[in-house]
Amino acid sequence: MQGVEHSELVAAKPFLIVQDYAKYTADQHVLWSELVARRMAQLEHCACREYMEGWHALGLEQNQIPHLDAVSERLERRTGWRVQPVSGFMPSRAFFEMLAARQFPTTTWLRSRESMDYTPEPDILHDALGHLPMFAEQSFADAVAEYGRVCHAIESEEKLERMGRLYWYTFEFGLIRQNGAVKVYGSGVASSQQECTNVLSGGCEIRDFSVAEVLNTTVKVDEIHKRLFAIKSFDEILGAVREAKLIVDKI
Ligand SMILES: [Fe+2]
Repeated sequence: MQGVEHSELVAAKPFLIVQDYAKYTADQHVLWSELVARRMAQLEHCACREYMEGWHALGLEQNQIPHLDAVSERLERRTGWRVQPVSGFMPSRAFFEMLAARQFPTTTWLRSRESMDYTPEPDILHDALGHLPMFAEQSFADAVAEYGRVCHAIESEEKLERMGRLYWYTFEFGLIRQNGAVKVYGSGVASSQQECTNVLSGGCEIRDFSVAEVLNTTVKVDEIHKRLFAIKSFDEILGAVREAKLIVDKI
């Protein structure tokens, strides 16, 4: 799957953009710094080891909005993934196509000061701070590519909805146990003060990860989580994708 070029993306092609870096204002860089400072104050305690390693390895910085091309070069050398700027939410087919090609779709716009805590659509804070660091971890990165490959081949909406639960409770809202403590790796928890605080303060039941249970747990996008799942190791996720495929094949 490595080395798939843009020209080979078909469904995703209309959504690909170039990051117009010069367009970011000084105020936006300041806002980014404030947002990152606030997240890092919490993430330094609650993020998993691999997240923090990835943040530094990809050259992400607190003082400026990331140059996605520069991040992409570092990422490609590490795990074969690239960062591809996109215009916003993508249809599932286009999204899976990109994941299978090891290209992570990343938005370039930054939330406003009035919406520091929450945006309904992903922005560069969610995508770059939330998602990108974990793509520097090979077993995680391989699992996402496999997830894209598997889902790209599924036609049934019902099966895709089930597979969506796996994505949600791992890549978006996943937790991991490390050295006896629950740590965060999912982008939705990493990028959200509220979700992270909820996990840290015991507001959320943390279950041992089980593919069957995850596939039976519906996703509620508009409320704070009452139940999340913790893996023991990132090596588990690739196997979980394959196991989930076998389960949804029987639907
Ligand atoms: Fe996300």
